[in-house]
Amino acid sequence: MNKEELKKEINRLKKKLDVTIVAHFYQRDEVFEMGDLTGDSLQLAQMAMDDDNPYLIFCGVGFMGESVKILSPNKRVLMPKIACCAMARMIDGAYFDENVKLLEKSGVKKEDILPITYINSSAEVKAKVGEMGGMVCTSSNAKKIIEKGLKSGKKIFFVPDKQLGQNIAIMMGLKSCVLGDDKDPKEADIICYNGFCSVHQLFEVEDIEFYRKKFPGILIVSHPECDPEICTRSDFVGSTSQIIKYIKELPLDQKVAVGTEYNLVNRLRKENTYVLSSTKPECPTMNETTLQDLYNTLKSIEDDKIVTEIQVDENVAKWAKIALERMFEI
Ligand code: 13P
Ligand code: SF4
Repeated sequence: MNKEELKKEINRLKKKLDVTIVAHFYQRDEVFEMGDLTGDSLQLAQMAMDDDNPYLIFCGVGFMGESVKILSPNKRVLMPKIACCAMARMIDGAYFDENVKLLEKSGVKKEDILPITYINSSAEVKAKVGEMGGMVCTSSNAKKIIEKGLKSGKKIFFVPDKQLGQNIAIMMGLKSCVLGDDKDPKEADIICYNGFCSVHQLFEVEDIEFYRKKFPGILIVSHPECDPEICTRSDFVGSTSQIIKYIKELPLDQKVAVGTEYNLVNRLRKENTYVLSSTKPECPTMNETTLQDLYNTLKSIEDDKIVTEIQVDENVAKWAKIALERMFEI
């Protein structure tokens, strides 16, 4: 089938089956267009929880589908591709434990640590965090969650994204370090695990200098997964939905260069929007999901031959849910 035929079939199956299609902003355009619910990580988790359909097809990356399954265990959550976010893969349960031990060795007691995990992490890591009394955050609420965490009087152990952790520390005027760097964790308020997003690492200070010189008055916008060197030089830093809102409110003739995933930036507006990079910053895992995959998933429900359903171990789900719910309480 060509793309138009696939879209027609997808729409037919959507009408026939009790299914909701959820799509993150970084999905390919043709997949994104098919979404009944679209948004950033936090919005998608919230909307999916409130949705009544028994079947949910999540077009995004693994941790997103997993989070929905944990929050709504009675739903059948399917993913056209169980694509795993590269940053989420940088830490697992064993690495988490090892890093807590490392912290203890450097003189920070376990009871003085409050772990916070970015939602871009596996259910296993969320469960470890939940068991230690910690919680989850997303890029749109990280500051609020860390603020709340610091009220415990403990140090924050932030996993896996060192850039988000450091950017929030700078925003709040706090001290941070990255485990393994030459700073003493005992001196830091936020201790970051050494993880990062390879897509958001592509944006460089030279790109900002290039655009500022080429178009005086241009605004620079970035996602908090970018290096602090980029975020501190940006006019606006926000999650994907915050970036979209900010740009939609700008006058159409205002030039803006955006440091986040290509599919989102390309969809923003036709003119005066630039990708803050000389390369094409595409997220390989977000781009794995195709229209054909989406169609195959819907067809598998119709034929009762489901293959890509998300399952989470019961004990892992229990603690991961606690960590996620602590975020929603705040
Ligand atoms: P948002 O929560 O801002 O949508 O970010 C998700 C993500 O993976 C960014 O790389
Ligand atoms: Fe993960 Fe980066 Fe892709 Fe976001 S852009 S899903 S953090 S790899």
